[in-house]
Parts: sequence; C-alpha cells; structure tokens
Amino acid sequence: MTAINEQYKLLGRKVEDLRQKEDFYPTPQYITEALLEYYQFKGKIWEPACGDGRMAEVLKKHYPDVVCSDLIDRGYGKAGIDFLTSTTHVENIITNPPFQLAYEFIVQGLKLADKALALLLPIRYLTGKKRAKLYADYPPAKVIVIPNKVDFLGFGSPAMEFAWFVWEKGVQNTTIVWADTHDADTKRKKNSSSRLLG
Ligand SMILES: C[S@@+](CC[C@H](N)C(=O)[O-])C[C@H]1O[C@@H](n2cnc3c(N)ncnc32)[C@H](O)[C@@H]1O
Repeated sequence: MTAINEQYKLLGRKVEDLRQKEDFYPTPQYITEALLEYYQFKGKIWEPACGDGRMAEVLKKHYPDVVCSDLIDRGYGKAGIDFLTSTTHVENIITNPPFQLAYEFIVQGLKLADKALALLLPIRYLTGKKRAKLYADYPPAKVIVIPNKVDFLGFGSPAMEFAWFVWEKGVQNTTIVWADTHDADTKRKKNSSSRLLG
C-alpha cells in the first residue's frame, strides 16, 4: 500500500475515494514525448479525452493539426463530447483514456482511427482473455513500454506500470520497445522539488 493510501485510511476515508472523478489522471509530459519519439504519425490527430490539455499541448508542439475534446468541461478543448458515441473518423487518435472505460476506448478507437490509434494503458492490458481475443484480430503494431511506474498525480509511490499501445491500419505484427524514460522522470521530480524549495 502506498504512503498516500495509508494516510488517507488514517483520515477515515475509503481508498476507493482516491479515484479521481471521471478518471482524470493528467499525463506527465515525458510520457507523451516517449510516444512521439518511438512512433511517427501522419495527418490529423484527435485527442478525444483531453482533460486539461496536458497531453494535447505536447502533441501540438510536434504536429500542426491536433483537435481536442472531452466529456467533461475542464477548460480545454471542446467539452461535452462522449468519445464512445462519436461517429467522427480521423486519421489518428491519441489519448490516455479513462481507465474504467479503457476496453471500450480501444474498440471505439479502432473503429474511428483511419491510420493509427495510440492509447496509454496499464501494462497488464497485454493480458486478459477478452483482450487476447480482441488482439488476435487487432494486434497492436507497437507496444512502447514505460519502464518506470507513472506518478500521474505527484503523490509519490506510484503503483502501476504503463505502455503505449499503438494500432496501425494494415500492420498485423507487433514490435515491442522500451522507452528510455527513467532519467526524464527523475529530472521531472528534481525540477518540481527545486521549484518548491526555491
Ligand atoms: C486519464 S484522464 C486523461 C486526460 C488527458 N488525456 C491526459 O492524458 O492528460 C481521462 C479523461 O477522460 C475523460 N472522459 C471520461 N469518459 C469520457 C468519454 N466517454 N468520452 C470522452 N472523454 C471522457 C475524463 O473527463 C478525463 O479528462
């Protein structure tokens, strides 16, 4: 159990209450940069669960044509758009989906992305009977492993490992690569603690 979970229990609250509303976990910049280092997109990009734009802002630095939306109004992109009922096709879809709807986001993303779909998912999403069936028909073209656990909320002691799962139309074999993100994460933490101290 993480230190933050223990503290929360001491306050008499349920650990489940720690879950962010509507699964809002903004992605650290270095995670999005790892995707862009190991996969090149061609054409328009849609970030359909953009939150406060943490991921979209990095995408926009590298690609000229990025559109953003979210179900919830978080002051960024177009609000009130439910990705799961959308019918809009676009060349590329990239997001860190709400984890409780991750499977539905994969299925919907495969329908709507005409070239590539990239989702940041817990690494355990490589396993599971239902997912294995889906991957048999739609194997990801690339899996980019993030070797360090990802601290989305900056609480310390993150619990889960993630990978970018990238599906590309017409590609049936899977390549796996390990992103070199350890230094990026250490640097990020050093920078934010020196900002706090200084
Ligand atoms: C894990 S956060 C990721 C935010 C952003 N993509 C990032 O990486 O910083 C997931 C986001 O999905 C949004 N969301 C939840 N259900 C959704 C749906 N059905 N359609 C679109 N967005 C949804 C939430 O409001 C939240 O902002």
